[in-house]
This record gives sequence, C-alpha cells and structure tokens, in this order.
Amino acid sequence: MSSIELPSPFQLVELDCVDSTNAEAKRLAEQGAPDCTIVWAKCQTSGRGRRGRKWVSDTGNLYFSILLRMPYPMETMTQLSFVAANAVADAVSVAAPRGAFVNVKWPNDVLVEGKKVSGILMEGEPDIKTGAFKYLVLGIGVNIANHPVVEEGAYPATSLAAQGSVGEGLSVEKMLDTLAKRFLAGVATWRNLGFGPIRRHWLARAKGVGGPVAVRLPNETIEGVFGALDENGALVLHLDGQPNRVITAGDVFISQNSPHI
Ligand code: BTN
Repeated sequence: MSSIELPSPFQLVELDCVDSTNAEAKRLAEQGAPDCTIVWAKCQTSGRGRRGRKWVSDTGNLYFSILLRMPYPMETMTQLSFVAANAVADAVSVAAPRGAFVNVKWPNDVLVEGKKVSGILMEGEPDIKTGAFKYLVLGIGVNIANHPVVEEGAYPATSLAAQGSVGEGLSVEKMLDTLAKRFLAGVATWRNLGFGPIRRHWLARAKGVGGPVAVRLPNETIEGVFGALDENGALVLHLDGQPNRVITAGDVFISQNSPHI
C-alpha cells in the first residue's frame, strides 16, 4: 500500500532504494509498464544527472521518474522538459519559504535564491521506423532535506531545508503529489494549446534572459547574451560581432548578482 495516492492516470511504483529511478522506469517500460507509471525511490545508489554527471541521492529528497508512452516526435522531447520544469518550479514555490525567489534556469533547472534545488533528466528510447520515441523517461530530483557539496566550478546547490522551509514544505510526499498534479495540468495545456503557453510560463520565471551568460558546452565555454528562447526551447545566444548561436544542450552559468530575472 502506497503512502500517497496520485490522480489517474498515474500508477505509482514505490521503492526503498534503487540504482536510478530512470533506469528502473526503463526496465519497467521494456516489460510493458503503462503510460504514466511513476517510479519513486527514497534513495538512489547510481543517480544520474545531465551530461553523464552523477546525481547525489541521499535519503530525504525526492527522486522519481515518469514513464511517458504517447508517440512523441523527437522535437517535442525538449518541450516536455519545459512542461516538467514549470511543474517543478510551481511545486517548489509552494514549499519554499514565503518570499523566496524561485526561478528556472535554462534548460530545466529550478533555483531557489539563485541556487539549484532541482534537476531534470529526460531520456528517450527512439523507434527507428517511425522517428518517434517508443517511450520517454522523465527523471526529476528535488533537494528537500539535503544537498550535495558541489565541486568547484559547478553550479551552487541548495535544498528546501537549507532555505528555511518548514512543516509540509519539507514533505517528500507532498512535493511528489503537488508536482505530479502540476505536471498533468501542464501536459494538458501543451496538448491543447501547444508550446506557446508553456514557453511564456517558463520565461516569466526565467533567470538570466536578456543578460550576460556563460554557456558550457562539451568542448568550449561561450560567453554572450541570453537573447531569446526559440519556439522549440533552444537558447539563442547573442555574440559580440558574430552571428547568433542556437544552443540545444549545455550548462548555463549566470552571475549570482545578475539582475536579469
Ligand atoms: C541534472 O543533472 O540536473 C538532472 C538530475 C536528474 C536527477 C533525477 S533523480 C530521479 C531521476 N533518476 C536519476 O537517476 N536521475 C533523475
């Protein structure tokens, strides 16, 4: 018996500890698990982050993955990660202390007071024949009770506890419940009205847009101005005296004092 009840069509698989909820969701997908299966674990032994990084996953935080089976064309994968980032930002705003600044940072990190409190890792299994994904796994981690000490040069991290949340604001169950409901509402908006309202909602909370940013790519770091978010969610970087660069994957660094929120 699960400790929380999620709305239909979610089906909750609740685990104590697992290697990675994304890995488990993929294994379940291969065994035929239905659309909207949610794999939630109290801790992860091999939590994974974006770009091959490790996601430290001690007990006390939220770690879960949503299996999505609708036939998504490849280009919509990014759009769905923005739907998820909006849902996380909404849920974090509810849990954060009153007046705390909650922002999103490209592509789908959520920050409290300028520090990363949540990350999203989306992985897809492509169907070569149709050009769509057989399924997507959307993995979300939210630092509630603790956060890792980050390496030098990495983005600063925080947790809701470190920011002063109390009571229900520190409940992993409540966070999962709020987040799942917001995500469902966001997917409905996206399916009915397209990416436009999702993009606007994201931009309303975005940190760094219009200001100087450094974008770290696998082989280089480029500095420029975050000019715009294009119609598919890519970052348009304005460079001094050169054509714009359209970035689809990378890590954005914003000065902690940036007024551009
Ligand atoms: C990032 O690097 O910002 C993305 C982090 C994503 C972490 C979550 S925790 C639940 C799910 N399972 C994983 O192994 N990773 C994601």
